[in-house]
Amino acid sequence: MQYIRNVERIERLVDKQNRWRNETINLIASENAMSKRAREIMGSDFCHRYAEGHPGERYYQGTELIDEIEARIKQHLKSLFNCKHIDVRPISGTIANDAVFSRFIDCNDIVIVNSTSGGGHISHHKHGSVGKYTSNIINFPLTEDGYHIDVKETINLLDKIPVKVMIMGKSLYLFPDPVKELAPVCNELGIALIYDAAHVLGLIAGKVLRDPLKDGAHILNASTHKTFFGSQRGVICSNMSNSDWAKIDKGAFPASSSNHHLDTLVALAISSYEFIVHGESYARQVIKNARALAKSLEKRGFKVEAKEFNYTETHQIAVDVSELGGGDEVSRVLNDNNIILNMNLLPHDPLDKVTNPSGIRIGVQEMTRFGMKEKEMDIIADLMKRCIMDGKYIGNEVIDFRKKYQIVHYSFDHDYLELVNGKEGIKTLSDIIEKA
Ligand SMILES: Cc1ncc(COP(=O)(O)O)c(C=O)c1O
Repeated sequence: MQYIRNVERIERLVDKQNRWRNETINLIASENAMSKRAREIMGSDFCHRYAEGHPGERYYQGTELIDEIEARIKQHLKSLFNCKHIDVRPISGTIANDAVFSRFIDCNDIVIVNSTSGGGHISHHKHGSVGKYTSNIINFPLTEDGYHIDVKETINLLDKIPVKVMIMGKSLYLFPDPVKELAPVCNELGIALIYDAAHVLGLIAGKVLRDPLKDGAHILNASTHKTFFGSQRGVICSNMSNSDWAKIDKGAFPASSSNHHLDTLVALAISSYEFIVHGESYARQVIKNARALAKSLEKRGFKVEAKEFNYTETHQIAVDVSELGGGDEVSRVLNDNNIILNMNLLPHDPLDKVTNPSGIRIGVQEMTRFGMKEKEMDIIADLMKRCIMDGKYIGNEVIDFRKKYQIVHYSFDHDYLELVNGKEGIKTLSDIIEKA
């Protein structure tokens, strides 16, 4: 009977997670919340199935229905992301990166990326995907503030060093990288410009950030579950020639995955329709909330980074907490008080500070999705101040506060609630899309 106890233990832990995380203020910048409608479609028969290849050209039988779903999602996402080619098969942002890096980086090629303390992602570095193909990885020069690529210095560097691939985008990402400024140089020098939009896909599609493909990036890779509020997957988009795209196609399958997890793909379809209807107003509110939280924290004595640049142009803000115990200590104390975020290296931190860096990184996208606005950002700043600066236990206050924010906004769940609250009697998804 031991195995029954084990099963029950797992079930209890999942149940506890579901209850607990609904009571927390989640400020992890790489996460988001799916609507009930998108979540509930998971667990269908598709969670058992395989469908290698493309719709209509599979290596398996029994795929007619996923073929239609995948063809539809590709068509709609191509128009949302404004691109000629899209691959929706990578099962995460890292797999999307690997599918592309494996095709564009040859042994000993020189690749330029954002440094780790400058916010770069591990998949761009020695121990991640890029490191599987080359050890010649150099970092972008940054401006004095540490949050911007120094365009002039980068152009000087590119004149001297034969860089083959440029990877923009990062994980601590307050200000977008300068695609428009560097794309012409890449074209002149034959450098492949890959933009990793894992964090900011929802802000690009929501039109609050410039579109890197329009500005000249050759390829855009991303996760679908950070500022884009879908299931946990990846995408690759491009406007390149058909023959170049054929290389990426092989990179996605068979080079970096076989089956592509159909269960989460169908959920991504639902979330994408929600994004098509609501993405722009969601993205505008995300930016307002990020700046509002930065100002409210600053007002209460926190050292919020990049004040001279109005703190942020994305969903993220960074706070220097080195005088408050450091990122490790502060993030643990907040966790014990039901506020969840992560410690983060800041641009001027030495790499050996990785286990207790100076900073914390805060993302407001998930709480925005639960309907929070500027007023709620001020309440969060106050809770953080009383917790970290005054040493008070505020965990129960967080639970009480979060009770009011349980419905996922910018979603069909929320539309439906609004509608049944007295507006027209709309019943189906297509009715809602038509009205939008
Ligand atoms: C810039 C960047 N690229 C790629 C990834 C990896 O994405 P995923 O977790 O979907 O594999 C992340 C994750 O946070 C990221 O920040």
